[in-house]
Amino acid sequence: MALAPQQLEEARSATRLEVREEEPTGYVLVTGSSRGIGRAIALRFASEGYAVAITYKSDQQKALETAERARRLGAADVVVLKMDVTSPESVQEAYRVLESRWPHLNVLINNAGILHVGGIEETSLEDWERVIKVNLTGVFIVTKTFLPMLRRAPWASIVNLASIAGQTGNIVASAAYAASKAGVIGLTRRLAVELAPYGIRVNAVAPSFVETDMVRSFIDTPEKRKRIEELHPLRMIIQPEDVAEAVYFLATPASRAITGQVLGVNAGRLTC
Ligand SMILES: NC(=O)c1ccc[n+]([C@@H]2O[C@H](COP(=O)([O-])OP(=O)(O)OC[C@H]3O[C@@H](n4cnc5c(N)ncnc54)[C@H](OP(=O)(O)O)[C@@H]3O)[C@@H](O)[C@H]2O)c1
Repeated sequence: MALAPQQLEEARSATRLEVREEEPTGYVLVTGSSRGIGRAIALRFASEGYAVAITYKSDQQKALETAERARRLGAADVVVLKMDVTSPESVQEAYRVLESRWPHLNVLINNAGILHVGGIEETSLEDWERVIKVNLTGVFIVTKTFLPMLRRAPWASIVNLASIAGQTGNIVASAAYAASKAGVIGLTRRLAVELAPYGIRVNAVAPSFVETDMVRSFIDTPEKRKRIEELHPLRMIIQPEDVAEAVYFLATPASRAITGQVLGVNAGRLTC
């Protein structure tokens, strides 16, 4: 039976709506998203209907918990990948899996990282190399590997997790950690220029203390918490969700004119 023009239009718009509901808002990969800041970022995107790839290095259980929460929040697709950002083979394998499943990648969040604390006299060459390898070389390896999928996307951006330690020496972290995060800032700025012709934006966030496993030992008593709060003009302990909100803004088209920038999420600790 032929449909009347009005019925036809109604049917068409219903189909379009249905498709729009099933289509992911976009495709996002968050490295080191089994817990902490990476988890909060993955969940922020999930709640907006993105297809989300969650990666972990060793804690599969935590990654599966993140995945389950992402699904409940409305992620269009959830993929859990074991990926060591220091291993080109491991990152390449993750690329193969995602490429066979998704048409492209809109957003890459380079979040995986490790903390290192201690003066140069206690820092061995092995410590130095390990920190630089995960925090800086890892960003290079993952970005270079996933570039073809980002280039295929109608819009794309990268957000790197730097740190206030990469902006000021006046912070509890080793020189290795500070240098790795300053390196991430340099990499961000250079890639912003280099990838602009492809329409890919590259930005970084630089948090101060954020309440995660990474800095748990600095805030595990009321006295220590108070000391950390007092370091920040806003007198607060920053939460992973605070960082996720900044990352979400920088990663998505709302910030389409912003690239090569470092957004401090530091409760006023660094105001320059
Ligand atoms: N927390 C802070 O105060 C703070 C402040 C400024 C910047 N940051 C930066 O924010 C990022 C996230 O920190 P966080 O506090 O959320 O850390 P976290 O709670 O310790 O979580 C680290 C995440 O990175 C993953 N990871 C570690 N090494 C990896 C490797 N070689 N390859 C792949 N994944 C790896 C971990 O996976 P597994 O669970 O499998 O081990 C985990 O998912 C880091 O880059 C950190 O430097 C943190």
